[in-house]
Amino acid sequence: MESVTARAPAKVNLRLDVGPLRDDGYHELINVFHAVSVFDEVTAYPAKTLRVEVVGEGARHTPTGEDNLACAAARALAERIGVPPHVALRVHKSIPVAGGMAGGSADAAAALVACDALWQAGLDTTELRGLAAGLGSDVPFALLGGSAVGYGRGETLTPLPAHGTFHWVFALADGGLSTPEVYRTCDELRGDADIPVLRLDDLVIAALRSGDAGSLGARLSNDLQPAAVSLRPSLSDVLATGRAAGALGAVLSGSGPTCAFLVESGERASTLANTLVRTGVCRRCLTATGPAAGAAVMDRALVPDRADR
Ligand code: C5P
Repeated sequence: MESVTARAPAKVNLRLDVGPLRDDGYHELINVFHAVSVFDEVTAYPAKTLRVEVVGEGARHTPTGEDNLACAAARALAERIGVPPHVALRVHKSIPVAGGMAGGSADAAAALVACDALWQAGLDTTELRGLAAGLGSDVPFALLGGSAVGYGRGETLTPLPAHGTFHWVFALADGGLSTPEVYRTCDELRGDADIPVLRLDDLVIAALRSGDAGSLGARLSNDLQPAAVSLRPSLSDVLATGRAAGALGAVLSGSGPTCAFLVESGERASTLANTLVRTGVCRRCLTATGPAAGAAVMDRALVPDRADR
């Protein structure tokens, strides 16, 4: 009997351009994803039923029932390959829960990869990505990693070349924001105003390709930011404090409330994280680098064949 451990990265959106609301309840997007080195790990053990246990950062705020995305991923894969979804999943969280960094999507991607290995399903990338898209808009990117532009509701991906390493600070908020509520507020704030036609920003692509952090910092933007700030006004202080402390760019991550700051180096990241915590605008910061690799198996281990699993 073997267990398999896989991990998947958090993401920040370098640009999130939000188009009109579609008939299916999703918004058309141009979403420039960038994976960063904060990872959730999922270990899959053979078991007699489908179970999930969540430990680590914010674990108590994560659903442990059937609506847990790692569980949903195991079930979708089992159905696809025609086996019973009998697996015990242990999710070790480092990505903030409901923080706009796609932690739930990372858990789903890691669970897909771990269960694929545990059940020796051998699905190819295209098949895994198809299952991922059915689980959530950001799950295909958590599988892919690196940097990529997402079209449609964010699930149709084109990888983007990037040079070098970018250094990030993430200011974590107490309590999450609901993604549907942030999108709804974005629509309300826009009212009847014309929504600009979505166009991929050439300058953000060029900055990634050349590894120019200064240019990338200047191009960070997120159409959901005004909505998140209106729901959580303190976020404007967090962003302003980071900018004043010398960040190359400051932006809301996804639907928030995590705020992301791009800086020149790992040393600058530690300094900025200390400043943000010391000034009291946030309780905790993470530092990370990007681009990070997508979901992958990290470890396989023999487990005793216990009758109670
Ligand atoms: O796909 P996912 O389950 O992550 O989306 C969560 C919610 O975010 C959706 O139900 C929808 O309200 C909103 N959303 C959206 N447009 C997108 C992606 C998500 O309105 N492109």
